[in-house]
Amino acid sequence: MNLPTRVKLVDVGPRDGLQNEKLPVPAAVKIELVHRLQAAGLKEIEVTSFVSPKWVPQMADNAEVMAGIARLPGVRYSVLTPNLQGFQAALLSKPDEIVVFGAASEAFSQKNINCSIAESMDRFAPVVEAARAAGIYVRGAMSCALGCPYQGEVSPDSVSYLAALMKGIGVQHIGVADTIGVGTPLKVQRAIQATLKHFDINDISGHFHDTYGQALANTLAALQMGVWQFDTSVAGLGGCPYAKGATGNVATEDVVYLLHGMGIETGIDLEKLVDAGQFISDFLQRKPNSRAATALLNTRVS
Ligand code: HMG
Ligand code: MG
Repeated sequence: MNLPTRVKLVDVGPRDGLQNEKLPVPAAVKIELVHRLQAAGLKEIEVTSFVSPKWVPQMADNAEVMAGIARLPGVRYSVLTPNLQGFQAALLSKPDEIVVFGAASEAFSQKNINCSIAESMDRFAPVVEAARAAGIYVRGAMSCALGCPYQGEVSPDSVSYLAALMKGIGVQHIGVADTIGVGTPLKVQRAIQATLKHFDINDISGHFHDTYGQALANTLAALQMGVWQFDTSVAGLGGCPYAKGATGNVATEDVVYLLHGMGIETGIDLEKLVDAGQFISDFLQRKPNSRAATALLNTRVS
């Protein structure tokens, strides 16, 4: 066991969470959510994506949301950029970090970004080069690292192959993403092992959707390997429009509860985080998809 003493959580709720909502969420609500997350102590927030509005209408207000955030020093604001067009648009919003997102499965690459894995690298390479030249940190996401909605099984070799390509084009940090939440702990550890052939443990994060209720166990499995960075989503918001049936990311509240219970620091105030989750859940007219948030909210009413 190689447990870290401190963990960094990237709340991806405003992006991964809200990209999948059927009803439009006004920019003002997204901005308020970001404000509440930073007030709760989140030091990194994935705010939006500069993708085609025809593909993901929910993120069409990307520039408006970025412009509306009152930024706090010490907080990093990241955005997704699938190609140079998206990067150039994002640049005007001054993100601290950009994310290029590839897939460990050919089928998912085609469905999500309309190109093969090899073609995606041709698109990402100039984005990464331009970002690094501008002093913007580059993360890469490896979708379907634990299974694909179209192809089924995804091998650790496919993960290693994609990680090598990402490293080759200059990506600085890589996320092992379970897009459809099918992974289980040993699979997670094998995917991380495959990623470790190309990236240092300090440059790897876990991004686990919770469709099959495995995300907390998967988080623990990654922690045990020394991974100390995770993408999570307040109130368990989320899903990918091109991964039908996949539910949200593991709830930030649940991961914070797990980590604090293990004596691992996050810098996050769980009660304020629960308030942030309740704010967005109220807007979406549903309950937070987080067991810890539900439990804490229940203690407030009694
Ligand atoms: P394409 O149709 O192949 O693009 O889409 P194209 O280059 O042929 O351009 C076609 C049209 O799109 C043109 O407009 C371009 O201007 C426009 P038209 O001339 O027809 O009016 N366009 C853009 N507009 C705005 N921003 C851009 C942009 N690029 C082209 N950046 C493309 C290719 C990548 C754009 C498209 O497939 C796309 O936007 N895909 C995004 C899908 C997406 O956002 N998925 C969800 C995020 S990934 C995710 O959730 C997984 C993650 O959480 C990790 C995990 O869990 O796995 C990260
Ligand atoms: Mg995701």
